[in-house]
Amino acid sequence: MILVTGGAGYIGSHAVKELVKSGHRVVVLDNLSTGHRAAVDKKAIFCPGDLHDLKFIHDIFGEYPIELVMHFAAHSIVPQSMQEPLLSYRNLNCTINLLEAMLKAGVRKLVFSSTAAVYGEPLETPIPENHPLKPTNPYGQSKAWIEAILEQLHRANGLDYISLRYFNAAGADPEGELGEEHHPETHLIPIILKAALQGEEVSVFGSDYPTKDGTPVRDYIHVSDLISAHLLAMEALLQGRKQREIYNLGHQRGYSVLEVIDAARQVTGLDIPYRMADRRPGDPSTLVASSAKIKAELGWEPRYSDLQTIIATAWEWVRQHPRGYA
Ligand SMILES: NC(=O)c1ccc[n+]([C@@H]2O[C@H](COP(=O)([O-])OP(=O)(O)OC[C@H]3O[C@@H](n4cnc5c(N)ncnc54)[C@H](O)[C@@H]3O)[C@@H](O)[C@H]2O)c1
Repeated sequence: MILVTGGAGYIGSHAVKELVKSGHRVVVLDNLSTGHRAAVDKKAIFCPGDLHDLKFIHDIFGEYPIELVMHFAAHSIVPQSMQEPLLSYRNLNCTINLLEAMLKAGVRKLVFSSTAAVYGEPLETPIPENHPLKPTNPYGQSKAWIEAILEQLHRANGLDYISLRYFNAAGADPEGELGEEHHPETHLIPIILKAALQGEEVSVFGSDYPTKDGTPVRDYIHVSDLISAHLLAMEALLQGRKQREIYNLGHQRGYSVLEVIDAARQVTGLDIPYRMADRRPGDPSTLVASSAKIKAELGWEPRYSDLQTIIATAWEWVRQHPRGYA
């Protein structure tokens, strides 16, 4: 059985759907702080509760024969964490509770949701996994510290783990059942598409970055491709082929904010107005992944991550669910 923390959230719900489809029994732990009950696959067992509650987590491991944990649950709203860093640092408490309960129950396999934000402003592009970690925001710092804890538990307690550093997750379930819904929404593609739907203006944060058009450049990776990487990581851990790895997950292509708006105009056929606003503190200028390592070692190949497909699937979700999961 697989425990998925944060399985009601954007990426976690896509993972649960794929795990169930591939025949796994799945337990979802989620406090619904940013997730949606309706996003959880009906064949999964849903345990509503909070990772701050150690007894609750112990009870789940006591009740279900968990073999491996996929740990998606986190506070990940970067602009909020710039104003209130403890929101991100509480991710440490939650993860330590989870790890404590795992070790006590003898569960020693974990796939962890890390982030490109651990790198900070890159010294080289595309960014390889051995690039120095210099996060520019508390969110990235919290994930870098968790990775350091995982490494120590690997040595001291035999915890086997794969940490997946996602670049910008985007897009929606190609079957149209799941999509991205956050309140507030801080991710570019859903912001653009909701603005397109509602005829509103998009704010572009920063126009003086050292990039091709002055707006930040990001590497967008389709959520379904992220999930296929999770399944490969899970199999490698369960079969004992891997004990401790860190992999980037990106498409190795960077798009500026203005290029994404332009692509969204092409997909939607709508004129999407925008205005320039100040930079957001903590945002690096360019984040583009080298994903050569996971391709070579686990045979991962993104299938949906060209920008048109990402935007088309996200647009389909937004059009079909203008009120999200409500
Ligand atoms: N979305 C991205 O582009 C991106 C990029 C890099 C890394 N990540 C990481 O991927 C993971 C999932 O991101 P997402 O975009 O799906 O976020 P999300 O907010 O949609 O999902 C997080 C889920 O965790 C749950 N949760 C949060 N705190 C909890 C707690 N204390 N106890 C129990 N449940 C809790 C929420 O209710 C939600 O369902 C996060 O760890 C995030 O840091 C996301």
